[in-house]
Amino acid sequence: MINASDFGQNFLWGVATAAAQIEGTATQYGKGPSIWDTFTAKNGKIKKNHKLDPACDFYHRYAEDIALVKLLGFKVFRFSIAWSRILPAGRGEINQEGIRFYHNLIDECLTHGITPYITLYHWDLPQALEDEGGWTSFSINAAFNAFVSICALEYGDKVKNWIVLNEPFGYTSLGYMLGVHAPGKTGLGNFFSAVLHTALAQADGGKILRSEISKANIGTTFSCSEVLPSTQSDSDILAAKRVDCLMNRLFVEPTQGMGFPTANWDVLEKFQIEYGTWRLHERMKFDFDFIGLQNYFPLVVKYNAFIPVIQAWEVKAKSRKKPHTAMGWEVNADSFYNIVKQFAAYPNVKNIMITENGAAYHDKLINGRVEDPERIEYFKLYLNALLKLKKEGINLTGCMAWTLMDNFEWAEGFTARFGLIYNDFKTQERSIKDSGYWWQNFLKS
Ligand code: NOJ
Repeated sequence: MINASDFGQNFLWGVATAAAQIEGTATQYGKGPSIWDTFTAKNGKIKKNHKLDPACDFYHRYAEDIALVKLLGFKVFRFSIAWSRILPAGRGEINQEGIRFYHNLIDECLTHGITPYITLYHWDLPQALEDEGGWTSFSINAAFNAFVSICALEYGDKVKNWIVLNEPFGYTSLGYMLGVHAPGKTGLGNFFSAVLHTALAQADGGKILRSEISKANIGTTFSCSEVLPSTQSDSDILAAKRVDCLMNRLFVEPTQGMGFPTANWDVLEKFQIEYGTWRLHERMKFDFDFIGLQNYFPLVVKYNAFIPVIQAWEVKAKSRKKPHTAMGWEVNADSFYNIVKQFAAYPNVKNIMITENGAAYHDKLINGRVEDPERIEYFKLYLNALLKLKKEGINLTGCMAWTLMDNFEWAEGFTARFGLIYNDFKTQERSIKDSGYWWQNFLKS
């Protein structure tokens, strides 16, 4: 039996969301198109050809949804600002309706005693900037910095908790190397340019927030997965090291002043030489007040000479006969424990917050109820691992469940349900799942 009070009085419990996944009103109220609006408009990119708009219609329903956050007992609400709602063309003219929307949302949180955590970039780049090359283009940095300044000056008096980027490895790899997420670009050249500009944006953003907002608590998030070799052969061990460089080390190490993790992988070494990234070590460094970790699965990898560049192959949870979620992601709280420890070992990581963790299952609403015992079990396992880490002295300051309600799960469309609240996408009716009620009880305990 685990209780919220075991984590101490000051531990922050929250629930996380992202603009593109919930807001809707993609072309209304002055918002400019984002890369996800463009990407989802094309057929064949998203499961069942689901279209992004209206998602959860959060733009119109935010007050009811914040009331649900309150009802479940969370003290923190994490949301992101849609860049093209503030700056429809990515830079230049400001959309005052967009500015007002986030003021209203922040005020709604504050009136309910809920602390807002704002993510500045959760994957929805303005399409106008993508037309210039997006994250592959040098011009992105000035545009991002201007956007950060606008948000900081506008909301910094009311909001003290900020997250610069959401999962930089997620959008640079899926969007600029594999092409399965927006903007659908592929290839190593695109990937490495996007990585470099993203690592700069991450630190620049932190520095701007620091200079514009007094008493700000500044973080950024990283996806993370423990990477294990499938056998103890040298080739599998080296393959696992290469994947670890990509999945875990690529963005945190520049913030620590270590540059990119070149030592275990010659491809990264070449990237560093070609782009002269060693000259940028100082600029890529930033002393974040906290880092956000987001963990969903471990990875078991095998050497495979036929896979270009990385020469590694994932041995899926299903074929290893491991318990997994509807996404095929292995449920393994020990690996969560191990990967948090790996990040905590960086000498300049001061505090860690779990900024996302959750699971998708094939939920069904039957007579107004969603029974989701697997999700409850999942949270119990992961929260136990978290408590163990806390008791061992890891500086953990909070935990946010992913996510408030079923939403647009990127390439999966509306088919993957991660919410604590079930959403009927036809009627927008919300129903609290059993796991939502489980959290409600847990948070009282
Ligand atoms: C990480 C991303 O930040 C979030 O947007 C996504 O929905 C979850 N993972 C689940 O895949």
